[in-house]
Amino acid sequence: MTKEHPQNAETAKKVHIQTFGCQMNEYDTDKMLEVLRHENYSQTNCQDEADLIILNTCSIREKAENKVYSELGRLRELKSANPDLKIGVGGCVAQQEGKAILRRAKNVDFVFGTDNLFELPEMLSKVAEGQKISRTERHARQKVRNFIPDYTFQQAKNFGVKAQIAITKGCNNHCSFCVVPFTRGVEVSREPEHIIAEAQRLVAAGTREICLLGQNVNSYKANGTDFVELLRRLDGLEKLERLRFISPHPKDFHAELADAFVTLPSLCEQMHLPLQSGSDRILRRMRRWYTMETFYEKVALLRDRLPQATLSTDLIVGFPGETEEEFEMTMEAVRNVRFDLIYSFKYSARPGTRAAEYPEHLAENVKSERLKRLLETQEKIVREKNEALTGSLQEVLIEGKHHRKENTATGRTRGYHSVSIKDCKTKAGELLAVRITGANPNSLIGEALSTSPVSG
Ligand code: SAH
Ligand code: SF4
Ligand code: F3S
Repeated sequence: MTKEHPQNAETAKKVHIQTFGCQMNEYDTDKMLEVLRHENYSQTNCQDEADLIILNTCSIREKAENKVYSELGRLRELKSANPDLKIGVGGCVAQQEGKAILRRAKNVDFVFGTDNLFELPEMLSKVAEGQKISRTERHARQKVRNFIPDYTFQQAKNFGVKAQIAITKGCNNHCSFCVVPFTRGVEVSREPEHIIAEAQRLVAAGTREICLLGQNVNSYKANGTDFVELLRRLDGLEKLERLRFISPHPKDFHAELADAFVTLPSLCEQMHLPLQSGSDRILRRMRRWYTMETFYEKVALLRDRLPQATLSTDLIVGFPGETEEEFEMTMEAVRNVRFDLIYSFKYSARPGTRAAEYPEHLAENVKSERLKRLLETQEKIVREKNEALTGSLQEVLIEGKHHRKENTATGRTRGYHSVSIKDCKTKAGELLAVRITGANPNSLIGEALSTSPVSG
């Protein structure tokens, strides 16, 4: 594709951001777009017409990191076709690798860490002068207290029915396998007033569901407000129909938070509680600070109050030294808890983490085979659980048209099941009463009970 350069680049610059990794990176991408809008950039979905391409990177597993370098290799062609194109690398790989990226990938113009995205305008003006920039300094704890400057609140118009808000950044846990404390730094909680102001803007612009983000949301504390109190304050926002959060750490999940699911109407009956392994010895070596016994107690805390709550988890197979019996314990935990959804990963050694130094790393084929068995077990559970939902009545928040099927809308239940609804013209943002009539492997099929929304 040929590219026409506008005469006056100031008036028509286009940016393409490719996001890898978790919701925190998606959130950061939104913030980058807001910062760049102030600099007269508009977003494009087509790399060929971009004046600026940013890769927002992830280093959680080796595979994620490799993707970044292969993508940079691919961009070499675009850069030689258009020497004015600027390429930046942000996110977790950038934070860890810094200048090394500039050395390894000559087509990159600038590299910036996870604390530096609000310095984009300054970096870009230096890049425009032909400089190569690497900026990965962590800011002093106090300076990043409200790690999102106020001006980014000005433009809420591009947000949709669902939005995310970061309430903490960083992590103090240092699980032995995890790179996040290195890429995101120490845990910092944003001031509640700042979070609520962001939520108010979003709701005023049409957002109906907010998901609070943090590596360990339930250790949130700022200005005397703890996590449950923050949920209470957000629950009070008029027109905010649904509130969720991701991820709580099992060690910090207590009865008070379980109670909040009952007392706060907007808090959805759904929780992600990352287990990682079903073996106490592996959990100790992972530095997770709970046992299977306490994990089962936490699940019971929630299910005693809300038997219908949807529960998802993260699991790692093939952690260094994991025996067949220990892997079986993870399988047993999955069969006992009957999670609605699991995210399972083969252990990947990350430079700088403790577990990378542990002996007895397992062969790739052993990890793959365990992952396969785990997925098969879970598939059966999901099928049974989805079938059990057939006939039930669900409140669905409509998110928009189905991307493939005509005359079909999609949305989610409060339990976060995706539902497709035929012959449905209800607009995005409305709540609908839906009867579940069937299930696909990863979603439900439903029938609108009335064309009028449930409420709101
Ligand atoms: N803060 C979140 C998780 C962030 S990373 C939490 O504590 O739950 C998301 C998931 O990636 C983790 O829960 C873990 O299951 C997985 N993960 C992290 N490091 C990994 C590694 N080195 N190898 C394989 N999976 C990993
Ligand atoms: Fe990583 Fe553990 Fe922190 Fe989660 S809690 S981000 S897994 S160190
Ligand atoms: Fe990846 Fe960084 Fe998120 S390593 S999972 S993008 S915090």
